[in-house]
Amino acid sequence: MADWAGFLGATMLWVKAGHVIFVIFLMAALFMMPRFFIYHHQCPVGSDEDRKWIEREDRLRKIILNPAIVIVWIFGLMLAFNGDYWREGWFHGKLLLVLLLSGYHGWLIGYFKKLRKGERPLSEKRLRLLNEVPGVMAAIIVVLAVVRP
Ligand code: HEM
Repeated sequence: MADWAGFLGATMLWVKAGHVIFVIFLMAALFMMPRFFIYHHQCPVGSDEDRKWIEREDRLRKIILNPAIVIVWIFGLMLAFNGDYWREGWFHGKLLLVLLLSGYHGWLIGYFKKLRKGERPLSEKRLRLLNEVPGVMAAIIVVLAVVRP
């Protein structure tokens, strides 16, 4: 066992509760953003609605998406050091998937910046399909974290 294992003591359950609460906020925003993109795509570039969607997406990014991912990572890493899970298979799987989910998060921000510039690189159908990705990932992450197969 490493020196830092168990450093959270009785606070660990509070950190875990905080982790799960911010996971809910993060997932909600990850589901909302591509939905917003689909509605956004339906507005002509430069229209009033276009500007309104840019503003909504910007707010979702600044108020929920970005703060939530930072807090989920901080609490998650605290839990990982506390439990000293670094050599456990379920944790390797979870880490890989949360890294992919963070990559998806980054891609969403990049896509938002393109929409803001008036670009519409993907079709609506593609966006709908992409929206399935975070749900499947979240389901596997939860099974890995809870069942620890
Ligand atoms: C972003 C990086 C993340 C890290 C480093 C991380 C790390 C951890 C660790 C180490 C635990 C175990 C706490 C313990 O019982 O000792 C945990 C619990 C949990 N994590 Fe994460 N996590 C992350 C993201 C996520 C995400 C994105 C989800 C869901 C989509 C998630 C869902 C959960 C759940 C549901 C638990 C509670 C499991 C239980 O004990 O019943 N985590 N996390």
